[in-house]
Amino acid sequence: MSQSLEGKRTLLLKLRQESELGGGEARIKKQHETGKYTARERIERLVDPGSFLEFDRFVVHKSQNLGDAKFLGDGVVTGIATINGQKIAIFSQDFTCWGGALGAAHAKKICKIMDFALENRIPMIGINDSGGARIQEGVEGLAGYGEIFYRNVKCSGVIPQISLIMGPCAGGAVYSPALTDFIFMVEKTSYMFVTGPDVIKTVTHEDVTKEALGGARTHSEISGVAQFNVPSEDECFERVRELLSYIPPANFTKATPKYTSDIVYRDNVKIKETVPANPKKPYDMKEIIFDVVDDAQFLEVHKDYAKNIIVGFASVGGIKIGIVANQPAVLAGVLDIASSEKAARFVRFCDAFDIPILTLVDVPGFLPGTNQEYGGIIKHGSKLLYAYSEATVPLISIITRKSYGGAYLVMASKHIKTDVNLAYPTAEIAVMGAEGAVNIIYRHELEGLTGKAFDDKKAQLIADYEEKFANPYRAAELGFMDAVILPEETRKRVYEYLIALKNKKQEKPKRKHGNIQL
Ligand code: HXC
Repeated sequence: MSQSLEGKRTLLLKLRQESELGGGEARIKKQHETGKYTARERIERLVDPGSFLEFDRFVVHKSQNLGDAKFLGDGVVTGIATINGQKIAIFSQDFTCWGGALGAAHAKKICKIMDFALENRIPMIGINDSGGARIQEGVEGLAGYGEIFYRNVKCSGVIPQISLIMGPCAGGAVYSPALTDFIFMVEKTSYMFVTGPDVIKTVTHEDVTKEALGGARTHSEISGVAQFNVPSEDECFERVRELLSYIPPANFTKATPKYTSDIVYRDNVKIKETVPANPKKPYDMKEIIFDVVDDAQFLEVHKDYAKNIIVGFASVGGIKIGIVANQPAVLAGVLDIASSEKAARFVRFCDAFDIPILTLVDVPGFLPGTNQEYGGIIKHGSKLLYAYSEATVPLISIITRKSYGGAYLVMASKHIKTDVNLAYPTAEIAVMGAEGAVNIIYRHELEGLTGKAFDDKKAQLIADYEEKFANPYRAAELGFMDAVILPEETRKRVYEYLIALKNKKQEKPKRKHGNIQL
């Protein structure tokens, strides 16, 4: 006898309820005890209330090696939803089912939602909480990862991809996030490593805790793998929503304006004297950023890594922009391996997603030393040069103070096709700083002098050099600076140039792709 309508409805509701429980109540309790939300709770907290539409909640694995153990949904929740009213696609791994480990069916669900995101040009968000490839499924788990990695690369530069690390992510579980645009890690509950502490102990005899090996601090401060380190899962959801508010849903999609009540034509009175007259005195570039952007709102990316350069998102007069800025308060704002890579990746993200870039320059050059040379500063530094040179989004730069040598060229100079180059009156554009230059070009004149005679002569040569080179006017005479502006004029100028560059179109010669120094 066929089931009654009521019976059919009851079965569906029962299956739904079963799938809600993932790996069961005991494992959910354990998940909560370790300070983590479940896969479903995470989605609920991240997306707009009531907007989640789930896919594939009754999928189960077909593996012979897992016995009768089956969990509806196979350890991952997938679907679409909205965040700030904008459609997104999402997967959230369920640690209560085999530790979120990835088998064939689990991988297929992730691939399906990634394909949906790509075809519909909406951002893809992955919440990762996984022990890696599901051991019992052997090569099928590995194959699943391969399919995901392939899609990560296919989506790259087409839709934004954001990874939230919310538990131990090992083995294959780290490489998919690594291929995405932004990684968020939660302090004390999230880890990323290719091989865990036990394997390391066996192979290299090193003793290391999982926190030190792959915790949120390690990856946000030392390795630079993670762009954001957040104290809690709730804070993480907040930051992800904020990030999404600055970026368009896909490439070739113009960003919508950001709401602001901040007056565009206000003077930046606060930063009139931020740049000190003494070129050796440090100052905080963030003071300039916060005063120039709307409502002092700046979402810093990679905040704790390579702090000698600052990158992040903001808006000016509602126009969403990326900001790259040397930080004279840290290592005098020098360019080194880490800061070059950090900024290059950010510039390429902005360029891929049509986000104009404002560059604030105060850079004494590239960091000298064997550490840097042996580490490949030549190839890593070239990444930033490459990234700016290939960028076709509107580019505006302002030299606030030092801009010396190769670093002058790299930091969005006119010569690599920045649209608008501005300088403050405090700008110094030269091959190198005054003292270094005098030591080289006036070596013979200084030879033989001692004591006061030496000091006086050197001081006079430095003063002459500074008068001749340590200003923006030689570059302005040559058209390398489009205008010299006062700091208090910054916001309105930036806004006006952004408006003027709104329809910028720059053609590049046809090619398959360039060959950036990787
Ligand atoms: C199957 C797994 C699993 C896995 C964990 N589990 N990892 N099941 N395959 N890879 C299961 C456990 O058996 C357990 O099941 C549950 O998940 C929770 O695991 P616990 O160990 O109890 O939790 P915890 O102490 O928090 O430790 C979590 C962990 C640890 C750090 C992730 O389980 C771990 O080290 N797992 C192995 C990680 C790893 O080496 N992965 C690499 C796989 S190879 P029950 O039934 O008790 O709940 C790989 C290669 C891909 O990924 C390469 C692509 C480039």
